[in-house]
Amino acid sequence: MRTLITVVLLILSIVSGNNGGPNSPSKLGHMVVHKDKITLSGFSSGGTFAQMLQFSYSSLFSGIAVFSHTYYRCGTGTGLVDDYDRQCTKLFNASEFEVYNPDLVHEDIKEYVGLKKIENPMNLKDKRLYVYAGLRNALFTPRQSLSILSVYERYIDSPQSIFTRVQDADLVLPTDNTAYGVPCTEFSEKAFFIGQCGFSGVTEALNFLLFNNTSAAHVRGNPNSLMEFDQTEFTRDLPSKHQMDTVGYYYVPKRCRRSSSNYRQCYLHFYFHGCASGRQFANSTHIQHSGLLKLAESRNIIMIFPQAALSLPENDIGCWDTFGISGKYYATQDGPQIQAVKRMIDTILGYPMSPPKGGSSGGNGGSWGNGNGRPNTPTAQSQHFHQQHKYKHRPTTGKQKQKGNRHRGSGQSSGSSKLEFYFGYFVLFTLTPAFFALHCTAHVKLT
Ligand SMILES: *[C@@H]1O[C@H](CO)[C@@H](O)[C@H](O)[C@H]1NC(C)=O
Ligand SMILES: *[C@@H]1O[C@H](CO)[C@@H](O)[C@H](O)[C@H]1NC(C)=O
Ligand SMILES: *[C@@H]1O[C@H](CO)[C@@H](O)[C@H](O)[C@H]1NC(C)=O
Ligand SMILES: *[C@@H]1O[C@H](CO)[C@@H](O)[C@H](O)[C@H]1NC(C)=O
Repeated sequence: MRTLITVVLLILSIVSGNNGGPNSPSKLGHMVVHKDKITLSGFSSGGTFAQMLQFSYSSLFSGIAVFSHTYYRCGTGTGLVDDYDRQCTKLFNASEFEVYNPDLVHEDIKEYVGLKKIENPMNLKDKRLYVYAGLRNALFTPRQSLSILSVYERYIDSPQSIFTRVQDADLVLPTDNTAYGVPCTEFSEKAFFIGQCGFSGVTEALNFLLFNNTSAAHVRGNPNSLMEFDQTEFTRDLPSKHQMDTVGYYYVPKRCRRSSSNYRQCYLHFYFHGCASGRQFANSTHIQHSGLLKLAESRNIIMIFPQAALSLPENDIGCWDTFGISGKYYATQDGPQIQAVKRMIDTILGYPMSPPKGGSSGGNGGSWGNGNGRPNTPTAQSQHFHQQHKYKHRPTTGKQKQKGNRHRGSGQSSGSSKLEFYFGYFVLFTLTPAFFALHCTAHVKLT
């Protein structure tokens, strides 16, 4: 019976040309790609989501790039945006006891591995990481952004596998654009966070992740059109609070099409947008100006752009769920958004789609915020930040310290007011307009 239905559906889909009409999104299908070179990147909350996906399926991806956000599993994951902002951003000017301690992440990782909700992070040992941090990011202190390194350094073997760029920048996706976007040091959701930073972040990141090439060479490419795909087939039986849009975008370079005369087997890359820059807010504007499409053509990379959706009251600017709206295990294989994107990958690689995971406990998220007697609505301060067109640049609080979260124990030696990092990595500082590189083997100070 099921076979019959499948056959009928198949015939129908062939008859209808597979996508039902000129303006309806197509279905993602099987693509022939380098399976051992699948990479991820994300801007802002998409950068943390990319880490969530990578930790969930750490064997699957060869590298990740995170632009202008913070680290995996920051915050107590209550599903309340205020809690996240208080613990993981500088918006609340929180006390040192409220700011989340990145060391706690490893306890969560151990728990998730024990529960088989994420793969063993030892898979990360030969993977690559690229981190971009802006010194004047309106949301995160440099320390909060660079704590990504302290999470990954336990798992990635070689400092050669990590590339970090710190630039005098706000919350932007750095590009080499001159026409579209705002100066790198400006905050602007109206330009969907596209920064004119004098270099292309996505080019530098993917050159490093895929080709081990640290020269951020300009790429030439002549992109044709971005396509839409139907996301609903990937979310159909997931909890209703999955917060995925109905449509995503994708781009297949000319040479990666099997009909092409100079066909190549291509790379596969997933890019995750940030808050207030997904389809519901920007259509494809952020993507079009990101530099990713040119890069796709010149380096033979198929690009998939899954799209998250807003949900009220906690996520009114369509961020990825980095704070637990969809339940306690939002950052694991049980997370509905993780499941949706994993199914996209399954489909592209030609595997059957994973069945839904997690059951009732991982699922609906609806009860968060009620248990402790607090109303499940954002405070005025958080609303102020989180409503579209109400983003506000706040001055950097240079004195912010970061210590253990009181309620979860654990200590980190107390910080000085200088931000000190002891990372044996290659760290690049770009202070516009001057441009200089530091090869750091001992420690880097930002004062
Ligand atoms: C941040 O906290 C410090 C120390 O508690 C205080 O002096 C300062 O005024 C606060 N700034 C804001 C913007 O609340
Ligand atoms: C990547 O490049 C660095 C520096 O050029 C080199 O030392 C390293 O061996 C390379 N790694 C790989 C896997 O090719
Ligand atoms: C790195 O990129 C530069 C500029 O595109 C190129 O000239 C060089 O050959 C590349 N190196 C490697 C090892 O691919
Ligand atoms: C997105 O597309 C819709 C429909 O074409 C249009 O009305 C809207 O103004 C667009 N928004 C942006 C930010 O481009």
